[in-house]
Amino acid sequence: MQYIAASDRYQQMEYRRCGKSGIKLPLISLGLWHNFGDVDVPENYRKIMHLAFDRGITHFDLANNYGPPYGTAESNFGKILKKDFLPYRDEMIISSKAGYDMWPGPYGDFGSKKYLVASLDQSLKRMGLDYVDIFYHHRPDPETPLEETMGALDLFVRQGKALYVGISNYPASEAAEAIKILKDLGTPCLIHQPKYSMLERWVEGGLLDLLEQEGVGCIPFSPLAQGLLTNKYLNNIPDDSRAAKSTGHLQESQITEQALTQVKALNELALGRDQTLAQMALSWLLKDKRVTSVLVGASKPEQLADSLKCMENLDFSGTELSRIEEILK
Ligand SMILES: NC(=O)c1ccc[n+]([C@@H]2O[C@H](COP(=O)([O-])OP(=O)(O)OC[C@H]3O[C@@H](n4cnc5c(N)ncnc54)[C@H](OP(=O)(O)O)[C@@H]3O)[C@@H](O)[C@H]2O)c1
Repeated sequence: MQYIAASDRYQQMEYRRCGKSGIKLPLISLGLWHNFGDVDVPENYRKIMHLAFDRGITHFDLANNYGPPYGTAESNFGKILKKDFLPYRDEMIISSKAGYDMWPGPYGDFGSKKYLVASLDQSLKRMGLDYVDIFYHHRPDPETPLEETMGALDLFVRQGKALYVGISNYPASEAAEAIKILKDLGTPCLIHQPKYSMLERWVEGGLLDLLEQEGVGCIPFSPLAQGLLTNKYLNNIPDDSRAAKSTGHLQESQITEQALTQVKALNELALGRDQTLAQMALSWLLKDKRVTSVLVGASKPEQLADSLKCMENLDFSGTELSRIEEILK
């Protein structure tokens, strides 16, 4: 059946400006790290894409090595794009990245120009695109000069293969350097993609301030701590959960007694706010206006529908915030 997007999709979403740029992003963006590979079910991920777009999610985040196997999230996304989303391409912000292990040998990892140039060309082919909206360097490379890596990002914009560029997983000091190099090259850094959730708060130690000061957007990844900040692990590890799947990056060993004690207390607090824990975890990030969008994953359409409802309550009382700090201490 031909997909036709919901006509009221833009009434269902709020958009925030990404740093000091012309781009606005939806409060919730969809990541394709898990659930879109060749190990996953096409009808299911196609439904997730439809629901996302129907609810005003315009931003879809990929990387060269998402799958598994590597590359298949991009090729599967490309198939859905061709089938359902070509009329909507200009309404979408599609991102990809390179920086982690992708192919064997010295030119398939980290941050050389050689790797990034080849990788973006491969990503464009897999997705059937002429350009991506955002291309990221996925993680800092301790050996390649930052000038070379940022030079490659600048090249992509000049070639028209990427409209904007970003960095991911860069600590504040390296982010500051990268932002400066890009500025000097005339290609501003649009956005930073760090890991940030109630359980992972390193960005609060300087990165968020830097991004605000430099006019760079921030899109936290794994805002639900890969599912730990939901109600799913409260009693056991469900068979269909990320922690139970051999292809999932959440390890059973990460679901510790200490984490569960916190998660249970947070769940109680969320219920008191008429939210699910997933909704509260997302609202908690979005209460900070320096956060442009939160980048969620979903293995089922119902999960995405649940997460989207976080927008109904983004405010926290002082008492709620203190209680959260007490639980997370
Ligand atoms: N830049 C980087 O280095 C980097 C690294 C990681 C991720 N990312 C990006 O961030 C995106 C999101 O990461 P993530 O998938 O780890 O995010 P997440 O939102 O923290 O976790 C998503 C997982 O949580 C579970 N879930 C989601 N909503 C739920 C709900 N409402 N109720 C119950 N369970 C729910 C599902 O897992 P189940 O399978 O258990 O159902 C889902 O796959 C990725 O797709 C990728 O685009 C970037």
